[in-house]
Amino acid sequence: MADTEPIKIFSVIRERRSIRNYIDRDVPDNALRAIIAAGIQAPTALGLQPWQFVIIKDRGLMQRISDYCKPILIESIEEERRAGTEEFLAALKTPGFNIFYNAPVLVLVLGARKAVSSFLDCALCAENMMLAAWALDIGSCWIGSAALVQQNPDLLTALKVSDDHQIVAPLIFGYPAHLSPKLARREPRITWVP
Ligand SMILES: Cc1cc2nc3c(=O)[nH]c(=O)nc-3n(C[C@H](O)[C@H](O)[C@H](O)COP(=O)(O)O)c2cc1C
Repeated sequence: MADTEPIKIFSVIRERRSIRNYIDRDVPDNALRAIIAAGIQAPTALGLQPWQFVIIKDRGLMQRISDYCKPILIESIEEERRAGTEEFLAALKTPGFNIFYNAPVLVLVLGARKAVSSFLDCALCAENMMLAAWALDIGSCWIGSAALVQQNPDLLTALKVSDDHQIVAPLIFGYPAHLSPKLARREPRITWVP
């Protein structure tokens, strides 16, 4: 591989941002399949590929999940105030706020509980998916807050999540309302050990 010519993956990695504002347009099923196909190319411990995917387009069900999670989130944030949570807390308290930002689709990346490295494997898969989406001009955001549904058996049944799997990455996808989200300035902390 040439080491001087930046290839497209670098711009996709650099430009992907969490998107929290979507236009009202569905993500086609073939795009979702392509995103998942990219996800499952991720490396996994022992090559176990311990994932499963649930695709939810039912906005009523997404609303139910949001309604269930919001009060729990508000209570837990207020109980243990951490730096950086003020803005999110204010959003949660805003009437009509939906934790999925009204995205048209939610994809749950589930990890098999018995696999040795389910969480890490599925997180790698999720990042592949978000990058692949961005390469298709589709925005995404990992909605960790939605993993709270794990405490609600009725919602788990509605989402068809079985006992032997856990929700690792709830990911929303959709077409961004703003096409050019700002680039993030990030400086790595590197220690070189010669
Ligand atoms: C494990 C995890 C959980 C997250 N949960 C949420 C969430 O519940 N709601 C949200 O709006 N963003 C969530 N995010 C997105 C982060 O806020 C976002 O990645 C971070 O602010 C950096 O911004 P960027 O993705 O645009 O680079 C989550 C990200 C990760 C990796």
